[in-house]
This record gives sequence, structure tokens and C-alpha cells, in this order.
Amino acid sequence: CGIVGYIGHREAYPIILNGLKRLEYRGYDSAGIALFDGNDIKLSKTKGKVDDLEKRVSKEISTNGTLGIGHTRWATHGVPNDVNSHPHYSNSGDLVIIHNGIIENYEALKKELLKRGYTFTSDTDTEVLVNLIEDIKKSNNVRLGKAVQIALNQVVGAYAIAVFDKTKPNEIVVARLGSPLAIGVGEDEFFIASDATPFIEFTNNAIYLEDEEMAVVRRHKDVKIRKIKDDSLVSPYIQELQLNLEQIEKGGYEHFMLKEIFEQPNAIKDTYRGRLLSKEAIIKMAGVEDNMKMFLNANRIIIVACGTSWHAGLVAEYIFEDLARIPVEVEYASEFRYRNPVINKNDIVIAISQSGETADTLAAIKLAKSQGAFVFGVCNVVGSSIARETNAGAYTHAGPEIGVASTKAFTTQITVLTLIALRLARAKGTMSSSDFRRHLIELEMIPDKVTQALKSDSYVKTVAEIYKDAKNFLYLGRGYNFPVALEGALKLKEISYIHAEGYPAAEMKHGPIALIDENMPIVVIATNKGHYEKIVSNIEEIKARKGKIIGIVTKGDKSVKKLADHVIEVPETIESLTPLLTTIPLQLLSYYIAVMLDKNVDQPRNLAKSVTVE
Ligand code: G6P
Repeated sequence: CGIVGYIGHREAYPIILNGLKRLEYRGYDSAGIALFDGNDIKLSKTKGKVDDLEKRVSKEISTNGTLGIGHTRWATHGVPNDVNSHPHYSNSGDLVIIHNGIIENYEALKKELLKRGYTFTSDTDTEVLVNLIEDIKKSNNVRLGKAVQIALNQVVGAYAIAVFDKTKPNEIVVARLGSPLAIGVGEDEFFIASDATPFIEFTNNAIYLEDEEMAVVRRHKDVKIRKIKDDSLVSPYIQELQLNLEQIEKGGYEHFMLKEIFEQPNAIKDTYRGRLLSKEAIIKMAGVEDNMKMFLNANRIIIVACGTSWHAGLVAEYIFEDLARIPVEVEYASEFRYRNPVINKNDIVIAISQSGETADTLAAIKLAKSQGAFVFGVCNVVGSSIARETNAGAYTHAGPEIGVASTKAFTTQITVLTLIALRLARAKGTMSSSDFRRHLIELEMIPDKVTQALKSDSYVKTVAEIYKDAKNFLYLGRGYNFPVALEGALKLKEISYIHAEGYPAAEMKHGPIALIDENMPIVVIATNKGHYEKIVSNIEEIKARKGKIIGIVTKGDKSVKKLADHVIEVPETIESLTPLLTTIPLQLLSYYIAVMLDKNVDQPRNLAKSVTVE
């Protein structure tokens, strides 16, 4: 979920509404807003998107007021409907709250509150929290901040909250545990948000709350931050932000996803800029250099991640083992954290996460750290929770990724992981200096080659038109391109809602081959490096069952061309770098199919960009 708040001298409504639009990537099942107009709270909320909220607000409430909070939701407890949308009132109507996260013990708390006469209109854990705060405030006769603190000490779960009291309308109380919360510090005004994008045009100064911290944000006063547990004061660290507004707007493209696909040549360049020095034949990465001993002594690397980042991890497994000869295991963070994994002191855990906020990945990191592992983060969002929780790390520097279906995050993650593997390969001596140099030169040519691969755009569109009505797709690849097949299938599922499966090409004959008939499109990644002949045989097997073949091939390919119904060419490169190129047409294919099916590309149903619940 995304939360926004404002207190200051400007009209709060437009700031909150725009902020919610920028945060919609965090969830968009429902949205709501509460404004204080000088006398009373005006609240409006609805199932649906922020656009729906805007329409509703214009019919329902007046929008004046310089204090307010807003929320865009990704449902956890309770179906996405109007009643379950945030903000939520307390029973007296004095307090109003927005919440991102889950209160795990809400049923027990609710039982207590019911006994004390409280009533509930929604199924949410949030309504329990706001009434708990109210109950504490009244029975202990304390200020809102204190009541929030006492309440949060009774809560088990995760949260980022913002709450205000209409009888004391000069402050907003916020708190965080597990879900991000930033406070924008302006002149005589404060902004609250899940990330800095809602307030970036107003101020570059931000405070990021740490877990188990709360803050009272009061007009004409400094922000007061305290530890929720022991009430100790924390001096606020104001960070200067580098983000600019253009970076987060669509820049002429129809969708963020398409913009981000086309940004990849630059994004990849930004990722290796300053780190890859091909003339000197060196790779410089502070996070690796500072911990070189750890890396060289590592018995193995365990990679934890979710979704697309997990696929980048799978590619990294091939790269690390192949180039640096370090054993690698790749795990879904959600499985790792709950299966009592064996972690040894010389294990290195690499956590990969675009947002740096994925709850399962964060929990996996905490577990690994508690068992003595050294944890290295690969994140895109600077200052994110995972970036801060890890012992060391490397940012991908891909720029903000807004489209829910991840694209440039994936290729830049692979780029960073390649740099690390190359650096370690050199340090360990598993790679000759000439081979190392060749890899650096090839990597530097990748941005131009991605630009070439993007030129398949209009042909991919033609292919999309032909297969857009298929009910199932199969994606096949081998070696380095097996994870790319998984990622291609995931992209299609996510945004076009067509069922798709990715498989190692040779596994096809052990099951999925039964699915193949003349209606089944099969995307086969068949570059000239890495088991080419074997994959050509797999294509023959498909052909014999009349499947429709879309080949992703190296420029100039002959054999696949003879067999396939369509071929999409990518430039030639060394095997370990092929995923950076073969991914491109698969991203475009899913994009165009989704557009042709009239789906919401940037905000597919049921998904969220940043999943801060487990
Ligand atoms: C969500 C997104 C996916 C993403 C995954 C992991 O499910 O919809 O696109 O790959 O989370 O996100 P992370 O930010 O940790 O890379």
C-alpha cells in the first residue's frame, strides 16, 4: 500500500491526490483520503484506483484544508471494497488513520475492544488499531503520540501508519515497522509518504524512519522521533534527495513499462558507469572491495529474492559458478525464511530486490544475519530498507521503475551481478586476464546491442498480433537462457493474464510436450552460444507436434529460421551476456500482447510493485 500525508500552509488535497497517483505502483485496489477543513474531518474513499477516488471526492466532499492523509491499498485483510478502504475513523470520529502492513494479532485485540463496547464497520486490522489507540488515549488521558506508542507496543505485525486527531489538528503521528515511511521536511510544512516521490517537487529534504521508530510531525516545530519500544529520543537525520520529477514521469511513452524497456541501454550503462574501467582492465565496486576477504573465503553464495529479482538470481547462479567457480544456491526468499535453512559462517547471502522493500526478502536477510551470514544487497531504490539492512551492497542505478512488470530492474540486476562475478573471478584467478578483458569489452558493448535488439519492436508487434488470442504459451531456453524463459513467461502472465510456463528446453519432453498442438505458441531462445544444436533438436520436436515456434536467435541464424514460424534476431555476444539481449524481445512481446488485449499494462490486476507484506 501507499500512504501520503500533508500538514502545512498549502491546500493538502492536490498534494495528497498527486502523491497517491505516484504511489499507485504500491497497490491500487482501493483509495481514500481524509482532510481536516478547520472544523471537521472530510473523508472519502472507494474501491478502485486513485482516478475513481478523484471522481468520488468531487461529488462527495469539499476539499479545502491544509492537513490530510491519503492511502492507496493493496488488500490484505478484507476484500477490496469501499468500507475496507482507508482511511479509517475511530469510534468517536476524532481519530483517522491510514495503514500499510498487517496487524497479525488484530483478532485478539478486536475481541478486547468489542468487550469494551467498540464497534467495527470494516473487516480490516486497521480499524482495530485506530480504536485501540483511541481507547488508550481516553483511558490513560494521554496525547495522541503517547497513545500510538502504547498501542504499537501491543501490536504484532508490520506497519507504516499516519494518524491525526481532529481535536488537536496541528500534528500527524507516524510510525514504522517493516513498511517504509519518509517525512519530507519543507519550510513550515511536512509531507509524509511511503517513498519520496509524492513530495519531490516541494522539498529535497527527507527523513527516513527506521523500523520501530515513530515521529510526531507538528506545525512550527521540529520533527520529534522516538523509539517505540523504550521511548528514547532519536535525533533526526535529514537526507538530501537526488531524485528529479522528470525521472518519474512517462517522458512521451504510452506506458511506463515501454519507457522503462527503452531506457535499458542507458540504465545498463548507468549500472556499470564508474565501476567498469575497460582501459585499465579493472572493476571497482566498493561493496565488494571492502569485503573481498569475505568473498574469497566464501564456501558458497545463497541468493534470496522474489519474482523477477529471483530470476535475475538464477541467471547469476550460472554466472558465478561459470566464471568465478563459487557454488551458488538460489532461493525464493519466502521459502528460505521459513524452512530452517543451514547457514554457515562462510556463506554469503546476496539479496536481490528492485524496491528494497519486499517483506519476504527483508525477513530472509534478517534470518541470515541472525545466523552469522554476511549479507550483500543488490537493490535499485537508494536508502530502501533492504539497502540499509544488509552488511554491504551495490545499487543497480536503474532509475525509478514504475511499471509493475519489472524490466530494466532485471537487466541492471544481471549487470551488477555480472560485474561482481567478474571481479571475483579475477581475484580468485578462475579467469585469465585476456578472458577478463574480453568480458569487459563485451559488457561495454551491451548497451548498443540492447538498442539493436529494441529495433525488433515493430516486428515483435506483428508477432504479438498473430498470437494475442492464444490461451497458453510455453517459453523454452537452456543454460543462461533458461531463467530468461521463466522471466518471459512471468512477464506475459503478469500483464496479459495469459497462462504461460517457462521450462528448460530439454525438460519439455518430460511433460509439457503433451500440451503442444497447432494452437500452442512456443517461444524458444536459441542463440548461437550455449547448446545451439541441442536446442535446434528441441525445436524439431516441437515442429513434429505442429506447435507454433517463435525463435529468439542470434543475428544471421540459419538453422532455426528454417524451422520456426517467426524468428526475432538479437545481436551476437558472449554466452554469459546473452540474457541481457534475449530478454528484450520477450519484454516487448508481453507488452504488445497486453496492449492489444486492452489490459492495464502499468498496473495489472491483483499485483503490486512493492509487496511489503509476507
Ligand atoms: C512484486 C512485483 C514483481 C517483483 C517482486 C519482487 O511481486 O510485482 O515485479 O519482481 O515483487 O520485488 P523486488 O522489489 O523485491 O525486486
